[in-house]
Amino acid sequence: MSAILVASNRGPVSFSLSEGGDLTMRRGGGGLVSGLASVAADTDFLWVCAALSEADRDAAAQAPGGRLDRAGHGTGPVRMLDIPAATFHRAYNAVANSTLWFVNHLLYDTPNSPNFGMRFRREWESYRAYNRAFAEALAKDAAADARVLVQDYHLTLVPGMLRAVRPGLRVAHFSHTPWAPPEYFSLLPDDVSAEILTGILGADHAGFLTARWAGAFMDCCEALLGAEVDRASRTVTHEGRTTRIGVHSLGVDGEAMRARAREADVEAHLRALRDKVGDRRLIVRIDRTELSKNIVRGLLAYQEFLTAHPEWHGRVVHVAFAYPSRHDLPEYREYTAAVQRCAKEIEDEFATEDWDPLILNVHDDYPRSLAAYRLADVLLVNPIRDGMNLVAKEGPVLSERGCALVLSREAGAADELARDSLLVNPYDVSGTAEALHAALAMPAEEREFRCRKLAVAATALPPRRWFADQLAALDALSPLPR
Ligand code: G6P
Repeated sequence: MSAILVASNRGPVSFSLSEGGDLTMRRGGGGLVSGLASVAADTDFLWVCAALSEADRDAAAQAPGGRLDRAGHGTGPVRMLDIPAATFHRAYNAVANSTLWFVNHLLYDTPNSPNFGMRFRREWESYRAYNRAFAEALAKDAAADARVLVQDYHLTLVPGMLRAVRPGLRVAHFSHTPWAPPEYFSLLPDDVSAEILTGILGADHAGFLTARWAGAFMDCCEALLGAEVDRASRTVTHEGRTTRIGVHSLGVDGEAMRARAREADVEAHLRALRDKVGDRRLIVRIDRTELSKNIVRGLLAYQEFLTAHPEWHGRVVHVAFAYPSRHDLPEYREYTAAVQRCAKEIEDEFATEDWDPLILNVHDDYPRSLAAYRLADVLLVNPIRDGMNLVAKEGPVLSERGCALVLSREAGAADELARDSLLVNPYDVSGTAEALHAALAMPAEEREFRCRKLAVAATALPPRRWFADQLAALDALSPLPR
């Protein structure tokens, strides 16, 4: 029995099968996982996650009592849930990533999608089953007065399901994404949007990264559920229960990042990058190849900047990291191709014998991206919409030249970083091109001064603090009617 439990789709470790048939463990990927893994070292909690591959399933089946030890990857146990592959595929790819992610990031191309027909109903049923598997595992492992922290859009139904079987638990849900306004969230069938909102309201505390996303969630509860919303005290009351709404931003652990960025592998990449870039100025972007990250418009803006400012030809290089992501979804495969097409156009138009205007990296290479942060003069972060965006926070912390930050006003991070960055409308390609020019033209002292302030803001709320705040929010609940 555990006193603290964390539930997330992706866990802190993943397994692969070696040629000799042995299971080897490595650290899981993704922003949420790295943030939580850094706290896992000093807090003892049970981490409940999904088995994401056959090797994960094998490892889970072999673990005594179903609990794996994440030895060497932080302390404490992990329970990986063996969810049937077809159910997992429908819940994760079709509902979580193609529906809920699209709704909350406003990604639909509405004349063509979404289509909520019979097929969606089957997918929705799988999403329910997948959420039920988590709720059952948590109910089984939670001690009498345990605190349970449920993460993200994959698991919106878990709080309600868990409350139904274990009403004594203290349950929090946290959304790491934005939340859509009611007029967009209501694209979902009415019963589905109601089930999602009611599912989250099964928690005692529902957390969001910014006041804007928390506000949109409350607006949805009021408009679509008819719930009673008190915006001053940030509470939502529905069917006799009250849920507190919390705003907890997330930053980076500056010390740990700086230490990692000084390791030998990063130094080697730094030397290679310096050789390539020479005394040219460097514009960097680092993203998963994710529709919401707006990489194509970022490249178009760089192209327009080069067209409008020929004085920069030969004097600037753009290094764009676009790591593979969610390739099971056709939209992501097509988007990856569009990024590559756009990069080729820029090469064809501007490259000369001794100048490569753009270096596109499409393979996952964390140490290389840390080297790029260190060398950046300008960091471009232009998502269509983003829950927070930690790249905007990591860059200023690691930059050694005092980088200027060109930042989308639609990223959650803009709430904290607006004053010292160059804010852009992510759809405004010309505006972004001009911001790139302004960032390069900014006097060095001003860039360095702004960058120092950005780094202070970025490190104010490290994951450790975010996690402690989630637990404290559950401790502070008792005066509410339950
Ligand atoms: C977003 C979500 C995280 C997720 C990450 C990677 O940041 O908020 O929960 O871990 O994307 O996505 P993936 O589908 O690769 O787990």
